[in-house]
Amino acid sequence: MRDINCSDRLPGFPQILAIALLAEGITYVLASAAVFIKGMCMKNTQRVLAVNNDLPIKTDQAVHNGKVRSVYWLREEDSQRLIKGKGYDVADRTDLAIMVISDRISAFDCIWHGENGLDGVPGKGAALNEISHHWFNLFRAQGLADSHILDVPHPLVWVVQKARPVMIEAIGRQYITGSMWRAYNRGEREFCGQTLSEGLQKNQQLDELLITPSTKGILADIPNIPEADDVNVSRSDIENNYQAFNFNSVDDIDRYEVLLREGFSTISQALARLDQIFVDTKFEFGYVNDASGAEKLIYMDEVGTPDSSRIWDGEHYRNGKVVEKSKEAFRQILLNHFSEPDILLNKDRMDERNALARDNALPEEVMMQVSRTYTQLAEHISGSKITLPEDPRGEIIDTLNERFGLIS
Ligand SMILES: Nc1ncnc2c1ncn2[C@@H]1O[C@H](COP(=O)(O)OP(=O)(O)O)[C@@H](O)[C@H]1O
Ligand SMILES: [Mg+2]
Repeated sequence: MRDINCSDRLPGFPQILAIALLAEGITYVLASAAVFIKGMCMKNTQRVLAVNNDLPIKTDQAVHNGKVRSVYWLREEDSQRLIKGKGYDVADRTDLAIMVISDRISAFDCIWHGENGLDGVPGKGAALNEISHHWFNLFRAQGLADSHILDVPHPLVWVVQKARPVMIEAIGRQYITGSMWRAYNRGEREFCGQTLSEGLQKNQQLDELLITPSTKGILADIPNIPEADDVNVSRSDIENNYQAFNFNSVDDIDRYEVLLREGFSTISQALARLDQIFVDTKFEFGYVNDASGAEKLIYMDEVGTPDSSRIWDGEHYRNGKVVEKSKEAFRQILLNHFSEPDILLNKDRMDERNALARDNALPEEVMMQVSRTYTQLAEHISGSKITLPEDPRGEIIDTLNERFGLIS
């Protein structure tokens, strides 16, 4: 039997040195990884634009705060200076605005945030702007109608022509799903004055695009229309009160319907080439004057984005499964995340819902999943890369200062 030499079992100096060096190496690697991960979190946090209504943009009016966008109405002198200097194709006295999009994410009428100070979704604002701008350009190229965009100084900023909004959320649906399916399943057959056939199945494609407009904001003193947000209205409600909806004429109701149908079909065909299904969407319309002063109906706000539309993956749908590629996926995550989903769905529990959104930081992975869905879709649609700005706020201020003279 061989003697077990002490030196076989106990480490000598070289071994101790090796172990110490190894331990130090591991500590170093772990510490570096921690710094890297922290850096990534910090980076993402810094790269998110959460607050967009406090930029020092020259304006003499209140900033319009949307859920996601802020609109700064420019002073007359700045509008006129930019129209001349930049050669925008509008009449001299046209009012302009700067629209700044944020990376905030709203769902169920609340703004949500993530862990580690992630007050928005990295890349979301840039992705939404890129997608909308792409569709607006396509609409113009196809001779449908213009949009409000005159210039894109930065991925998060548009120079727009101030529009007189039509007070309608122009909703088009090619599939029966969501709230409409729930109503149908309860036995409702009439939607905005149109009757659906019997025997439809959940998530089924409809024979033709169903237009189900609702009020944009709260409209007062219109017969038969309750004073509430997002009330469904029929075509005859709109015809009978076309001026209250800001339409210039009854003929323009036909025009908006055509622009909705053709815009929908344009996006639908383009998404089909990416094997994605354009399920339903909301457009907004407004009036502006063209360079000769004539009034025209345009597309405004945003079109065909994952915030304003439902998009499904084509391959999964053919295999009988709905995989959401829009904000609907985030809504589903929220419904599964909280133990009482009724708080998210029940309009009478708004206080509890606001508290839920305020007091709960969502897992960072949820925010990053939305980030990937939005940025990948934008890259596939536009064919160009979405890059996260290093310092969105600083970049916006520098650009609007140096190239537009709009910073006070
Ligand atoms: N060119 C424009 N002229 C006037 N209003 C506009 C124009 N473009 C967008 N808007 C309005 O600005 C707001 C944009 O903010 P957003 O975050 O999209 O709002 P919302 O919370 O209403 O969806 C919308 O109310 C939209 O109707
Ligand atoms: Mg909007």
